[in-house]
Amino acid sequence: MPIARRYRLAAGLARLFPAAGRWAAARRRSRVFAEIFQTNFWGSQTSVSGPGSELDQTAIIREALPALLAAHGIGSILDAPCGDFHWLQHVPLAGIRYTGVDIVPALIARNQATFGSAVRTFAVCDLVEGELPKADLIFCRDCLVHLSYDETRRALDNFRRSGATWLLTTTFTSQRPNSDIVTGDWCPIMLQQAPYGFPEPVALINEGCTEFGGSYPDKSLGLWRLADLPQW
Ligand SMILES: C[S@@+](CC[C@H](N)C(=O)[O-])C[C@H]1O[C@@H](n2cnc3c(N)ncnc32)[C@H](O)[C@@H]1O
Repeated sequence: MPIARRYRLAAGLARLFPAAGRWAAARRRSRVFAEIFQTNFWGSQTSVSGPGSELDQTAIIREALPALLAAHGIGSILDAPCGDFHWLQHVPLAGIRYTGVDIVPALIARNQATFGSAVRTFAVCDLVEGELPKADLIFCRDCLVHLSYDETRRALDNFRRSGATWLLTTTFTSQRPNSDIVTGDWCPIMLQQAPYGFPEPVALINEGCTEFGGSYPDKSLGLWRLADLPQW
């Protein structure tokens, strides 16, 4: 059955029977992202995590991340989701305990075999509702942009539950209306606008994004204390 039709069926089910709907939504998320991985749906030649994870699109953040982590005394990172670890493998993270999680088991197996070490581990986890290992900082790049409002809200609750202090995540800074999407699609989200209602970030790094013909020069990583985020 085509992906879009499966989405609509699951969304209808979720409205009628919330518990069954959550179960179906969890299965759908894991299938959707497994299919994206298997078919290289995002179409990058170098990263199955998509063009946004290529080395040219991550040059600024690769440079900026070590200083940001040092400035906030961060000793452990939960990279949720880690994708294929294509660009982050080039960031010097000496002295920092790193755990990468993703919903796609085949991706995690490959990462663990290729990049796993005593201080770097990869595990399968659904960040919407799975049990997340505790870390100082959750790094959630290019993921909430693919989730529905409901799943984003649950992911943020889950991040808080993990006991992490910081959240570093993708946000856009230009005024555009946020919109709810079917999980697996993409929407540029501005976390300081409704329905997210985040406060001013503690730090902001503009990524220098040139994707989509330069339509999103405001794509950024924002740093927040999880305790400062509103429940919504
Ligand atoms: C666009 S990639 C970004 C990966 C990485 N953060 C980066 O910057 O390269 C999005 C990733 O999110 C993963 N993902 C989507 N929903 C997830 C969920 N609920 N739990 C864990 N991983 C998820 C996908 O499998 C995919 O690998």
